[in-house]
Formats: sequence, structure tokens, C-alpha cells
Amino acid sequence: MSRTFLQRPPGLQFNSVDVRQLADRAGRTPFFAYDRSAIDTRVRELRSLLPSAMLLHYSIKANPMPAVIHYLAQRVDGFDVASAQEMALALDAGVSPTAIGFAGPGKSHEDLRRAVASGINVHVESDTQLRLVTALGWELGVQPNVVIRINPDFQVGHSGMRMGGSAAPFGLDVDQVPALLRELETREVALAGFHVFWGSQCLHASTIIEAQRQSVDLILRLTSALPRPLRFVNLGGGFGIPYFPGETPLDAKAVCEAMHDWLPRLCERLPGTTPILELGRYLVGEAGIYVCRVIDRKVSRDRTFVITDGGLHHHLAASGNFGQVLRRNFPIVIGNRPEDVSRERCHVVGCLCTPLDRLADDVELPEAHIGDFVVVMQSGAYGRSASPAHFLSHPEPVEMLV
Ligand SMILES: Cc1ncc(COP(=O)(O)O)c(C=O)c1O
Repeated sequence: MSRTFLQRPPGLQFNSVDVRQLADRAGRTPFFAYDRSAIDTRVRELRSLLPSAMLLHYSIKANPMPAVIHYLAQRVDGFDVASAQEMALALDAGVSPTAIGFAGPGKSHEDLRRAVASGINVHVESDTQLRLVTALGWELGVQPNVVIRINPDFQVGHSGMRMGGSAAPFGLDVDQVPALLRELETREVALAGFHVFWGSQCLHASTIIEAQRQSVDLILRLTSALPRPLRFVNLGGGFGIPYFPGETPLDAKAVCEAMHDWLPRLCERLPGTTPILELGRYLVGEAGIYVCRVIDRKVSRDRTFVITDGGLHHHLAASGNFGQVLRRNFPIVIGNRPEDVSRERCHVVGCLCTPLDRLADDVELPEAHIGDFVVVMQSGAYGRSASPAHFLSHPEPVEMLV
């Protein structure tokens, strides 16, 4: 006897899986799903553009889900970590310690001890960090690998997050580096490289090109009298992704082509030293969605509120509270009825008892019903791990690599 399955209009397809099927796999909403084929395509495309001499690192802070890290461990050359926990995730994924860099202004003694013991590259950002790392090397009987992180003396103009050109807790000021290099000569540590991080979420190729050129010039100035070759120079990343209407994707081809302008100079002046590009959101941000369910709708004065079981406790960035100056809506769809042509203006909010918990302000969507899936796009980076999951004690979101 043949059986006919319930025919329903197609929902949003995510790596060829219907979003309702994803919800069944997750077992509940809200959840984050990350599309492995989109991550793979992004890495492949970028690698096809990058000069072969350029290494590609993934910044775990963008998305530390273990399955994502394992997946990327087969596809990139190294990882940048910001805590001993992130370091452990990278090591568990089989990444070589010498391909891991640990950066951050406040590294605890315990975290440094684990880093030195593991043999990863510790980015030294103060005299105190150098003193601790040296002492730990003695205590543990190993020679620590250190990287000097520089607070760049230039600032490039763009609308994303700029670092450099001003006082900062990150890295060492340029004029402090020569003294630190002299100090290093007296210590039992191996200088593995330099690190310059000038900003992130930049969509303008010309800005990234200029920042990379200035970073290379800066490093060449500071390394002119080095007695031994460096293993690598980490030139930061900064590649952004479009989140909001009117934003255009970064022209990565132009950025990669311009690398050929400074690569010969770098190779000639620092033979055997490999440049590194470190990227977080560019590799995973567009590959992720956040899915929550409509649990109520109501009208207050003249406004329609669509209330979901999700919110800022899972996705602070989409709520506009993750460093944004101006709150704008992430792209959002009704996942089970993406083709529905009916339209209403509404405000999509989370379930938290705070006016900050907004997922979309005054947005035009198909009329949303209780039980519908609200899907927030561009959610693969700075989602779950960058959100205050315990605020108001609601359940945590599920995460899946699809
Ligand atoms: C040192 C460092 N590396 C990498 C990143 C990752 O930036 P993005 O995800 O924008 O590529 C950041 C972001 O703040 C950072 O501070």
C-alpha cells in the first residue's frame, strides 16, 4: 500500500535542508545552524585569490562551536585564540601548537601557563606578559614561542571597528617595541613573529589594501635590525561581510591582488618569513542562521509586535547591542513561508523583559502567525558566544553544523 506524504509549500532551504526539518533535527527552537558547504566555498574561493605565500588563519572568537573548529582545521593554516579554552578547542581539533596564536590584553597566569606548556605562540602585549612567559618557560623547562603584538601607529578610515592610531590596551605602542626587542635578547624565549591588528568588519577594499601596506611598512621598520629571522608576520584581517541594506560585499579579489605590491618587498627583507591573514566573520558569518519561533503576536497602539522565543540572550548582535552605534535590522525572513507575498509592517522582538530585546524594527514581512519560524540571516559569527546567554535564565540555543 502506498502512502502519500503531506505536501507543503517549500520552506527556506539551508544547505538543501528545509528549515522546518532543521527544527525537527534540533528538537527545539531557538537554534543556530551553520552551513558547512558555504564555509567550504568561502575558504576555497578566498584561497584561490590569495597569493600562495599567504597563510590563512581562523579567529575562533567569531564562532567557537567545536564542530566548526574541526571542520575549519582541515581547511585553514592556523588558528587565533583569545583564551586557554579557545586554545584547548584548537588543540583538540588537531591543530599544531605552532600554528596557534594567543592574543589578548589580559592573559591570566593560569592561561599563560597552559599556553607555554602547550607550545603555542603567545602574543606578548606588555612587559608583565613577557616577564610571566619567561618565568613560566623556566618553570616548565620549555622555551616559549612569543609574538610581539603592536598597537599600530596608524588608523585607517572605515565604518567598522578600528584599532590603532590611539591609546589602546591591545599590543605595545610602536615606540615601546625597540626596548622590548632588546629585553627579549636577554630572555630564554623564541621570537616567532609580529602581529598587527588594525580593525575589523571593513567592506572597502581600498582601506584594507592601505592598512596592509602600512602594516608591512611598520613591521619592516621595526624588524630592520633583528638578529634572527622571524617565522611569520600576522597582518590582521579586517574583511567584513554585508549585514544591512545598501552594503555591498567586499571586493576580496582586489585586496588579494594588491598583496603582490608588498609581498616581494616583504620576502626580500624578511626571507623565510610567512605573512598571515587572520579572519573570523568573513569565513563563517554568512554561513549561519538563527531560527526562533513566533510564540505570540499583539498590537499596541498602532504597532504590531511579533514575539518570538529567541532574543538578545542568544544573538546580541542582531538586537543591535553588540557595539553598534546605529541600530539596524539584520536580514530576516519567515522561514516556513519564504514565498508568501502577503505583507505587514511589524516589530519582531525576543522573549526577554527588556526593550533592548529587538530582532527587527518596523520591518515588512509576510504576516507572521504563532508557530512560524523567524530566520535571522548572516548569523554565523558573533552569535551564541557573543551573547549574554544566562540573562533572565531562558534555555540556551541549540547549535548545528549542517
Ligand atoms: C585580534 C583579533 N583578531 C581577529 C579578530 C576577528 O575579527 P573578524 O571576525 O572581524 O575577522 C578580532 C576581532 O575583534 C581581533 O580582535
